[in-house]
Amino acid sequence: MFIGTCLSSLKLKNPFVLSSGILGISKNFFQQLSPYVGALTTKSIGKRERKGNPNPVVATLNNYGLINCMGLPNPGINYFTQVIREVKSVIDTPLIVSVFGFNMQEYVEVACKAEEAGADAVELNLSCPHTEGVYEFSQNSKLAYETVKNVKSVLKIPVFAKLSPNVTDITEIGLACEKAGADALTAINTIKSMQINVWLKKPVFKNLYGGLSGPAIHPIAVRCIYDLYEKVSIPLIGVGGVTDWLSAVELVLAGASALGVGTAVYLKGVNIFKNLTEGVKKYMETEGFKSFKEMVGYAHKK
Ligand SMILES: Cc1cc2nc3c(=O)[nH]c(=O)nc-3n(C[C@H](O)[C@H](O)[C@H](O)COP(=O)(O)O)c2cc1C
Repeated sequence: MFIGTCLSSLKLKNPFVLSSGILGISKNFFQQLSPYVGALTTKSIGKRERKGNPNPVVATLNNYGLINCMGLPNPGINYFTQVIREVKSVIDTPLIVSVFGFNMQEYVEVACKAEEAGADAVELNLSCPHTEGVYEFSQNSKLAYETVKNVKSVLKIPVFAKLSPNVTDITEIGLACEKAGADALTAINTIKSMQINVWLKKPVFKNLYGGLSGPAIHPIAVRCIYDLYEKVSIPLIGVGGVTDWLSAVELVLAGASALGVGTAVYLKGVNIFKNLTEGVKKYMETEGFKSFKEMVGYAHKK
């Protein structure tokens, strides 16, 4: 059974997308994964090199998730354009370059350079909860609107906007991005959170806050995708705790046209993509779905 899907003009052989920040920017990892995923997303790239936050930057929470406060370490777009070219030469799967900025002009500049280097789409990371100056873009619908609009006005490739669940109403920000011309919405980024070391009696991260990901956030992602599907018409990439076929199907029935997989790659290894694809195919056969598209948003049917 064919479970291909579309995100604007991108054609995906299956709905599973490697989420941003999970396997960094390694050409070898991307090449190895390419046959098994529908698309690959890079680590978020900014205008300049950033070292990120001081260690520790990850806390593990048994099997229910991770908190990370990496702080967007990356080599900067000028170096990264070469990596995009190298990765593109060894994969036959769409490459989504994740982009961030500390002001609108930086988003535009980085996105343009990513397009020139061969990105198939850009994902605007408006929503990193542990990087001051970036997080704000997901908190204010006017700022999100202006950012997407500015990037859209200069790019030919599709532009996706990655939203934060840490808002009163995610649909308000989603609608603003759609109005600005976004070709798809990615939801959700990690959830602003904190851990305290009870022996040291102080926060684990020097940065105080991190972003919670993994199985713990899955029901929140389902709610966000369900609500967005009710309000917007552009495709949705559902991200948050996709760990097995069941959690994947839930997000599709809620309205996701594609699924980002992040923390589960750490928990289960890169073979997860093969298992997810097989599991979803089996579910579709058992439940009588003729196409993947038919399943998208099915839970909204009265
Ligand atoms: C270690 C780590 C690094 C991440 N880095 C980024 C990043 O650079 N840009 C971004 O948009 N999201 C980043 N994320 C968020 C993921 O792409 C994803 O939205 C989130 O983890 C929820 O999905 P999951 O539950 O499948 O992990 C990162 C997540 C983790 C765990």
